[in-house]
Amino acid sequence: MGINDHPQPQRWSEAAAGPELRIPFRFEEALTERLRLRIMTDADVDAVHAYQSRTDVCEYLLYEPRDHRTVSEKIAKWSQRTTLEREGESLELAVERRADGQVIGDLYFSLKTVEHSCAEIGWALHPDHQGLGYATEAAAELLRMSFATIGLHRVIAEVDPRNDASVALCRRLGMRQEAHFIEELWFKGAWADTVVYAMRETDWHDTTIAGAGTLPAHFTSEGPDRTRKPLKPG
Ligand SMILES: CC(C)(COP(=O)(O)OP(=O)(O)OC[C@H]1O[C@@H](n2cnc3c(N)ncnc32)[C@H](O)[C@@H]1OP(=O)(O)O)[C@@H](O)C(=O)NCCC(=O)NCCS
Repeated sequence: MGINDHPQPQRWSEAAAGPELRIPFRFEEALTERLRLRIMTDADVDAVHAYQSRTDVCEYLLYEPRDHRTVSEKIAKWSQRTTLEREGESLELAVERRADGQVIGDLYFSLKTVEHSCAEIGWALHPDHQGLGYATEAAAELLRMSFATIGLHRVIAEVDPRNDASVALCRRLGMRQEAHFIEELWFKGAWADTVVYAMRETDWHDTTIAGAGTLPAHFTSEGPDRTRKPLKPG
């Protein structure tokens, strides 16, 4: 029997004990207390350009400030992406405030690996709407969707450690720091570090109140409960 006659080892995801993802996953929309997360449309170009064109917003994002045409071309592509099934597929979602329909930011959600059941999340808000818990509320919903709806095992966020607001957001969500890569990226003219924050499904069950909506346990609808420590600081 030659080596090629042996049965091929089974891929982990095909093994009986492997993870079972509920994919293909078609995103429609998601509602939180104050927000609607939805697929972007052409009508969002001005609102998205208002913050993606800003140097302060883009300081730690992989892209440079975008002009109107670039945002328009991006949204034309993002609006066609509604389903996650294969590794590397991603969604770019508009974060819309329910009270007035204003688009205040966006969320990135990528199926990083199907075999190992992991997604990556990212975020950006217009500075006018930062500091109000919107990113926490929106990202908490993505974590709920990841674990409760799609059945993922792990969600990560890759962040520049100088990006205090993004690091704080990861920690508020209950994600833990798992790695710090030194000078991993040639980023905007200099070497930059990356920290990886992560949450497993079991962590998520620990950090959310069952049935209490989308906010992490140490937040109330009035804002953070300062009397409680974050559940799992990174
Ligand atoms: C990263 C980013 C999305 C974080 O935004 P943010 O406004 O700090 O995060 P939130 O919307 O969750 O707001 C949290 C703040 O609101 C406060 N807050 C007020 N009401 C709240 C409520 N109901 N619920 C939760 N937090 C509330 C929190 O205490 C916190 O304030 P603090 O920073 O003074 O502690 C934002 O800085 C950003 O868009 N940056 C530019 C893009 C970027 O760098 N993206 C990340 C690349 S890795």
